[in-house]
Amino acid sequence: MTAALQKAFRLQARGCEEYGSPFQAALALQVAGALAGGDTLEGLFEPWAQADVPALFSDHAPLRYLAALHELVLSGDDPGLAALYPQAGRPADAVRVWPEARRATTRHCDRIADFMRHELQTNEVRRSACLVGGFLTIAAETGLPLRTFEAGASAGLNLYWDRFRYDLGAHRWGDPGAQVRIETDWRGPPPPVDAAVEVISRAACDRRPTQLTDAAQRRRLLSYVWPDQFERIARLEAAIALALALEVEVEAADAVAWTHAHAAPADGAATVFYHSVFWQYMPAQSQAALAKVIADHGARATAQAPFAWLRMEAHDEDRSLMDVRLTSWPGGQERVLADVHPHAAWVEWRAP
Ligand SMILES: C[S@@+](CC[C@H](N)C(=O)[O-])C[C@H]1O[C@@H](n2cnc3c(N)ncnc32)[C@H](O)[C@@H]1O
Repeated sequence: MTAALQKAFRLQARGCEEYGSPFQAALALQVAGALAGGDTLEGLFEPWAQADVPALFSDHAPLRYLAALHELVLSGDDPGLAALYPQAGRPADAVRVWPEARRATTRHCDRIADFMRHELQTNEVRRSACLVGGFLTIAAETGLPLRTFEAGASAGLNLYWDRFRYDLGAHRWGDPGAQVRIETDWRGPPPPVDAAVEVISRAACDRRPTQLTDAAQRRRLLSYVWPDQFERIARLEAAIALALALEVEVEAADAVAWTHAHAAPADGAATVFYHSVFWQYMPAQSQAALAKVIADHGARATAQAPFAWLRMEAHDEDRSLMDVRLTSWPGGQERVLADVHPHAAWVEWRAP
C-alpha cells in the first residue's frame, strides 16, 4: 500500500505539472517523499489500504488529501498554513510549505479525514468554451430557440453558458460586459458566432449536486482547484456569484430517470441534452440505459421539435483525450465537432 500510494502521489505530481500547477506538483512530491520515509500521515489513507495504483487514481485519493489541505487554507482555520500557501502575485515554495502542512495534518486530522471521505467533485466553467460551438451550431442549423437539459451538472455552473463572454482566439461571442470571462486557445475555423441564440428554458440534474448556497460546499468546490491556478479560481468565483444571483437549481437525481422524465423534444424549440466529463462516471449498465433514453427521445424528434445530444467526453481507449460530439435528430446524424483539452485550455474545432 505505501509503495502504491507513493507511486500514486508521484504520478499525480506529473499530472499536476502537465495541467499547469507547479505548486501542487511539488507538494505531491513532498508527500511522496514523506511516505517513502515511513510517514503514515496519521492513517488518513487507511480506507485505501488494499488499493493498487489504478484504484487510488480512480478514487482520486492523492487529490482528496491535497484538496483537504487547500480547504483548510481557504477556511482561514489554519492561519499558519494559509500564510505559506500561494496567493495571486505571490508564488509559494512547496518545500517550505510541506513541514507546516504536515503539522497541520496532525492538528486537523479528523477534519481532513472527514473531508477525504467525500468523492472528488469539480465543476469546470471553462468547459463551456468546448460546448458553446455546439450550442451555436444547433441554433444556426435549426433556427429555433433552445431548451437545454444538462446531466451531471455538479453545481450547475455551466447552466448559464450563454451569459458568459468567450474569447475564442480570433473570435468572440457573448456579452462583452459579462462577469464570467472564458478564454481558450481556439484552433481551426470559427464556430457560427453569428447564430441567433435564445435559451427559453434550462434544467439540470446531478446525483449529488453541490449546493452553492452552503458556504462549506462552495469552499469544497473551490478547494478542488489547484492552489496556484489563480485564473481558474477567479473564474470559478465569478461563476459562483452569477449562479447564486440567478438562483441556479440542480435537481438531485440520477441522469437516466431524470432525462427520461424531462428531456423529451417539444414543438417550437430545439431540445438540447448535454453533458461534460460525466459519462465515464456511470457504470456500463447506466450508460446503456441512458443511451436508450436518448435514442428514444431522438426517435420522437421532428423538424418542428428537433432533439440534439451534445457532449464533451473522454475517448473510451484513452481518457486523457476528449472530444465534442453532436448527434442531431430527426435523422440521428453524429459528428465530431472538436478535439478539446480536458480543462478547455484549447479547442481544435473541426466542423466547417
Ligand atoms: C467530473 S464531474 C463534471 C461536472 C460538470 N459536468 C463539469 O464538466 O464541470 C461529474 C459529475 O457527474 C455526476 N454524476 C455521475 N454519475 C451520475 C449519474 N448517474 N446521474 C447524475 N449525475 C451523475 C457527479 O456527481 C459529478 O458531479
